[in-house]
Amino acid sequence: MDSSIVTKGAMAWLGIRPSPISLAYELSWLCNLECAYCDRHTPMANEMKRDQILKALGEFVELGTSSVSLDGGEPLAHPNVTEIVQFLVEREVEVSMHTNGILVPRKIETIRKLKKVKISLDGPKEAHDSMRGAGSFDSAIAGARAATQAGVRVEFTCSVGRHNADAIEQLLDIVEGLGCRILFQPVRNSLFVYTQRDGKAWELEHQRSLATFARVEAAKRSGRAVANQWSSLRHFRNFPYEARPPCAAGWILCTMDPEGVLFHCGERDRSDRSNNVTRMGVAGAFANLTKSACGQCWCARSVEENYTWGLRFDKMLPPLRH
Ligand SMILES: C[S@@+](CC[C@H](N)C(=O)[O-])C[C@H]1O[C@@H](n2cnc3c(N)ncnc32)[C@H](O)[C@@H]1O
Ligand code: SF4
Ligand code: SF4
Repeated sequence: MDSSIVTKGAMAWLGIRPSPISLAYELSWLCNLECAYCDRHTPMANEMKRDQILKALGEFVELGTSSVSLDGGEPLAHPNVTEIVQFLVEREVEVSMHTNGILVPRKIETIRKLKKVKISLDGPKEAHDSMRGAGSFDSAIAGARAATQAGVRVEFTCSVGRHNADAIEQLLDIVEGLGCRILFQPVRNSLFVYTQRDGKAWELEHQRSLATFARVEAAKRSGRAVANQWSSLRHFRNFPYEARPPCAAGWILCTMDPEGVLFHCGERDRSDRSNNVTRMGVAGAFANLTKSACGQCWCARSVEENYTWGLRFDKMLPPLRH
């Protein structure tokens, strides 16, 4: 790792100076699917244009951003995605992407430049298509095959809910057949914590969620292709109760939405839209971020980053068996 990033990380950890080392950027809320549980499949009213995007990303790079995770909506549906990835890679930024996989074969030259592609897989064909629409399972698998053949690391993400809780082992069979691994995290009533949306239709009730994640743990213990680290599986043992990870949001992590509004954490309520990088510049907007931990992390990789950030080595070890 670059020594300047280590220094920046240490300054942030000590509470001296935060740095936007890792950015999650939702390019657009435009999407080629309309998954039932998702809040983000309609473009926002004033999404940034190409020049604004490149200006903002250039400012992030100046401030030391070394990794960018592209998200959406569907990032591959954005008209400038190729140029954006190229722009970042040329500046030695590590780029990963969350995608439904549909456009991966068509955009394979862009995919090739990524450090990792994260393809959502909601279950075997029937469960996946029930949430994401007919044909979407076959497209996700075709996308994974194309990326793997291009030499790009593929990791699947499964949002665990009522539609797929019984299919954990089947999912593992599928991804192992492709030579990949899969990350499990719970479906929430909304992508944003503390909104009024009522998503009970797809969220698992608590006891069933615990039992399902216990099966994920058992699968990991037996060497199956579970991508979660132990820290996120420990977290999901208690989630959403008694789960208070350290929180790096606003210190080294931040999230930018398609209109350029910057948040310390992408999982929180977004009703305050004042912190916009196009008006305030990235440095101004980043300096303005709140740093309030909420303990409600449901995104497995955020949980893991947070425990690493907090140097909670105790949380990284396998827990005792249930
Ligand atoms: C919003 S999507 C954007 C990237 C891309 N379109 C995709 O589907 O992977 C990112 C992730 O959010 C997950 N997601 C959507 N709605 C969710 C919810 N209510 N609870 C938990 N995860 C959710 C999706 O399954 C996907 O893995
Ligand atoms: S989960 Fe992804 S593919 Fe599905 S509607 Fe949301 S953004 Fe689109
Ligand atoms: S603790 Fe809350 S604010 Fe911090 S990263 Fe997790 S969800 Fe975001």
